[in-house]
Formats: sequence, structure tokens, C-alpha cells
Amino acid sequence: MTVRDRIEELRVALHRHNYNYYVLNTPEVSDIEFDRMMHELQELEGEHPEYYDENSPSVRVGSDLNKNFTQVPHKYPMLSLANTYSEGEIADFCDRVYKALNEDFEICCELKYDGASISLTYENGKLTRAVTRGDGEKGDDVTDNVRTIRTIPLVLHGSAYPSSFEIRGEVLMPWTVFEELNKEREAEEEPLFANPRNAASGTLKLQNSSIVASRKLDAYLYYLLGDGLPHNGHYENLHEAAKWGFKISEATCKCSSPEEVFQFIDYWNVERKNLPVATDGIVLKVNSLLQQKNLGFTAKSPRWAIAYKFQAERALTRLNKVTYQVGRTGAVTPVANLEPVQLSGTTVKRASLHNADIIEGLDLHIGDMVYVEKGGEIIPKITGVDITARGFMLGEKVIFITHCPECGSKLVRYESEAAHYCPNETACPPQIKGKIEHFIGRKAMNIDGLGPETVDLFYRSGLIKNTADLYRLTVDDIRELDRMGMKSAENIINGINKSKEAPFERMIFALGIRFVGETVAKKIAKSFANIDDVAGASLETLINIDEIGEKIAQSIRNYFSDASNRELIERLKQVGLQLYRTEKDTGNYSDKLAGQSIVISGVFTHFSRDEYKEMIERNGGKNAGSISSKTGFVLAGENMGPAKLDKAAKLGIKVISEDEFLAIIS
Ligand code: IVH
Repeated sequence: MTVRDRIEELRVALHRHNYNYYVLNTPEVSDIEFDRMMHELQELEGEHPEYYDENSPSVRVGSDLNKNFTQVPHKYPMLSLANTYSEGEIADFCDRVYKALNEDFEICCELKYDGASISLTYENGKLTRAVTRGDGEKGDDVTDNVRTIRTIPLVLHGSAYPSSFEIRGEVLMPWTVFEELNKEREAEEEPLFANPRNAASGTLKLQNSSIVASRKLDAYLYYLLGDGLPHNGHYENLHEAAKWGFKISEATCKCSSPEEVFQFIDYWNVERKNLPVATDGIVLKVNSLLQQKNLGFTAKSPRWAIAYKFQAERALTRLNKVTYQVGRTGAVTPVANLEPVQLSGTTVKRASLHNADIIEGLDLHIGDMVYVEKGGEIIPKITGVDITARGFMLGEKVIFITHCPECGSKLVRYESEAAHYCPNETACPPQIKGKIEHFIGRKAMNIDGLGPETVDLFYRSGLIKNTADLYRLTVDDIRELDRMGMKSAENIINGINKSKEAPFERMIFALGIRFVGETVAKKIAKSFANIDDVAGASLETLINIDEIGEKIAQSIRNYFSDASNRELIERLKQVGLQLYRTEKDTGNYSDKLAGQSIVISGVFTHFSRDEYKEMIERNGGKNAGSISSKTGFVLAGENMGPAKLDKAAKLGIKVISEDEFLAIIS
């Protein structure tokens, strides 16, 4: 079998396994077998860039390339649907349709999925483009990101599909993924996504498709457009599309009377709570495409379809008081403390009030009866006040605090930001503790045996006031503390000492500079030799670094212009932390391969192919896919293909082994 045939065989098989696993939930092969095949395909594709295919199953893993999205016009505008909230309005819709058509009609009922809408174009059975709704006329081309969504077929099954068509649907983030993502963001003090819809559309707009791939998005398709669709019925076409490999909701039903529609609504109003993704209503569509055509569109929406929105679940309860939480960055969040009330199966005692503007907008008073909603959101929120329940005695008006509840400093509000901040970064207890907790965290210094409770204990005992103090602690200082003991004390001190080996990039992340997450910290570590160079960098130098815009650059400048931060850094240097790039963490940064274009081929024993690629880049070289006269040398493992060997020989290009390569860069 030729390499090309093998690649094709693997692609076909992996597309099938992907569909069986993600769309049908009935895998045919084990995960290990799937991974093995994917690995083989990636290897072969790496060796044979001439067989590149943008729809290969290997694109599901995404790429690290940065991307700005281009806007593209929609061939057919992406309209919205008129909303209804009652059975009466649905009956009115049916009457209107009947009057306009003057004949019987069927209605296809579907769930209204609450995600980000997407329009997919398929040409000759292959996904060629994916565009967001945008303003309805034009949207962002997010094809690379969408290719990572495993329930979206890249290559269609069979051959019964039209040669060119569009299919629209909803990209969704399942509840479990959403909750996990928000947990991570909370730990990093990044703003939380309010609901899975925002999380899904935010994810679709990410620059880095490998992060998109890791977010495990899902997609349901519900609308076909194009000439030559197989049937005159929308419902029938959707079922046909399921055979081509699309994920079509099973909650789709053809109804012949308003009563059947109401039954569908009643059933799903309850059952939807057991679904893995968010839904916010039902969509009713006249089934016949011919009748749809006759009914046509208004300027905003089709006359042949309407949405019925589920009532967001809400409860009425008393507002007892408003408290304020201060986070690591000093952001102050108001929290409504409520008389406990049952809502969607849980007891709600607290709800977020977000910021001062929201409080003002609600004209909140203590003792007010307030509406609490969960809707598509995980954190309950207050959506209104029952003014009729106010009586004669109006409680005290809720006015956002002016001073920090923890340290008494006057709060500040930055232009264009909704939040209030406590500016006392170095002495406000929750900010200090928050910064230390961030510093010891898994993605930062990763100090074994230390957690938020221990940090709190050390802080309360007056042993630590900042991160540098951790490195002065001794076993004797802490072993007598509450529930500590010799063994734990030794573990903690060992963990702290070991963290001195943490590489420069983690150190930068651990400092907790606002907006400097893991990725930005890596970029900084790659761009500067030590922390003094970062501290001295101009705004312009910082902005010139990939991934760093003005906001981040300004925040870095602010951090280093603060004397107490500079002092802290001096102390961290003194205790021996790696505030500089070392050979170890940069993998021997050098110029030894500068300007050389290098081709990797074959199977390696000491390091993986990806590790070799990284070594090449870190030593100034470039990875190339195929041999040409410009190739510097070929790094060859076992079983390098004879065609490549031949080509290298013909062009007089050196072929070197793994050991020779390691000697060159050592
Ligand atoms: S059909 C011309 N079907 O709701 C109408 N839309 O308010 C085409 N949506 O932008 C849309 N589930 O994002 C349709 N089963 C479904 C839907 C659905 C969710 C969204 C879609 C659309 C919005 C309309």
C-alpha cells in the first residue's frame, strides 16, 4: 500500500470512528486504538505535507497559529425568529399561517438551543466554511475553530447530499464543560462566563484553535439551505442530513394541530432540564418548503417560523442585606444575601449583584422582595423588585460602599470599567492572601502541601505578609501551629524549597500581574532574559510581543512602577528564585541553527518529533515540511522513507542522525 493510500485509509476510518463516538455515542474502537491511528496519521502527514488536507481528522486538535477573523457576507441573511411566550400566541401564529396559505399545513417542532449560531457551507461533501451570525448580513469566518468541533462532520457520509449547500445550527458548550471552565477561571480570577451561550461564542472567537479544541464544544444543526435539497419537507431533510453525518436533535417532531404542539412544549418544558446543553424554548417551523416559500419573510424574521420561549425559572424572596467580597485583584463584588428560597431544585441564599450600576438600575432597598432567576446562568441573579410589595416602610436604599470592607481604603473606579477596586494591594488581607494563593497554585509555583487554608493560618499567625516571606519559614516556625505536626511542616518546607526550581515563565505567571495569564507569561519569558529587562521594557517593546496588547502592556508597566512590587522582586531574587531564563527552561536557547531550514523524517528514540521541532526553533532554526534546495539538513530517525533519502541525496543535502543532532545543539 502506498503512503497516500494509507493516509486516505486512516482518514476515512478516523472520520467514521469520530462520528460513531461523538454523534452516535456508540464507539467501535477503544480510545487507545483511536489515538494510535490518529498518531500514525499525524506522523504520516508530517512526513508528507504534499498530501495536506484541510479536512483531515487531524485538524480536530487545532493549531497554535494566531488568527484574525475575516468578515464574510452571508449568501442568505441570518435572520432571527419572532418570540412568543404563551399558548395563545402560538394559536394566533397557526391562524395567521392558515389564513395566508388557505390550506392545511404541518409544523415541525424543535428545541431552541441556546448557544452561538453558525452557518456551515459544504462543497462536494466537504466543509469549506463556517461563519458566525455577525450582524445577520455578514459574520466572522471561524472555519479553523469550527473544524475542531467533533460533532461537525468535515467530510460527509455517502453521496446523496447536494453538491453545494449551507446548513445552520447552534454551537453549544455542554453544562459540565461550562462549569469546569468557570471553576478554572475563578481560580485564576479571570472573569466568569455568565452562561454557556457566552462561553460558546467567546470560544468560537478565540485566536488559538487548540484552546478551542480543548473546550469540547458540541453542535446541533437545524436548518438546510440551498438548491436541490432531497425533500420538500424540512423535517424529512433534517433526517436525511443526519445520514450525511450531522448531529440532528432527536427532540424534533412533526405536528398537525396546535394541541400536538402544546404537548411537545409541555413535555420538553420539564425534560429539557435533563439535557446536557442549554435550551431556552421551542421553535415551530411550517414543514413544507413550498409553503415556507409562499409565506416568505418580514424584514427581520420568517413568517413560517416562530419561537416559544420557556419561562425563566424565578422565585420571589426578601433581600436581607448586601455584603461585599474583595478578590485577589482588589475587585469588589456586591452579593445579595437573601431569605433562602427554592429555585430549580436548589436552595438559593445569595445572588450576584455584579456592580454598582446594576444596584442603581434596580433601585434596591433592604427588605425589598426581589425576583431571583437562574435562566441559562449558573450563578443566580436578581432581575427585578416587586415594588407592589413595598408597603409603608421602605428599607434603606442600597448604596455601593465607598471604602473597602476589609481594610478601609477608599475604593477607586477606573474609567470604562464597571467594577470598583480596593487600591491597597499590599496591605488588604484578602488581596494579600489571594496573591499568595495564586503564587503557590498548581499552574504557578505548584508548592506541594500548601493550600488556601494553610496560607490563611500562616497569615493569621503573622508568619507571612507576602510571597517572599514563604521562603524564610522554617520547620520550627510552623510545626507547632494548629493541626500541623512535624511531618506536614517538613513537607511544606520541602515543597517551598523545591519551588525555587520553577522556570522563569511560571515565576512570571506566579507574580499575579493583572491580565498576565499563562500564555502571556510564556511569551514574556521567551522575549526577555530576566525580570529586570521585563521591568525596564517600554510600553512599545511590550506591545511588540505577540499576544500583548496595550491593556496588558500597561498593566505590566503599572506593576513594575510600584515600589513595593519592585521590593518584593528583589527579595524573591535574594531567596534564589529563578527570575531569569536558564538553559534548562529554554532548552538551550542558541543561534546554532540560525537561518537553517530543517526537515524531520522518520521515527525517533530519544525525543518525540514535537520535541525535536521545538529544539530546532529554540536554537534559531525553522521546521520545513519537504526537502528542497533550501533545506539545511534532514534530521532522520529510523525508517525514513526511501523517496526522501533519494531526494536529499540528489540535492546534496546532509542527512544527520538523532545523536549527531543532539551533539550539534548541545
Ligand atoms: S431556525 C430563519 N431552529 O434562535 C430562522 N433557530 O432567534 C432560522 N435557534 O439565530 C433559525 N435553536 O441561533 C432555528 N431549532 C432552531 C433553533 C434556532 C436555536 C437560534 C438561532 C437563531 C435564533 C433565532
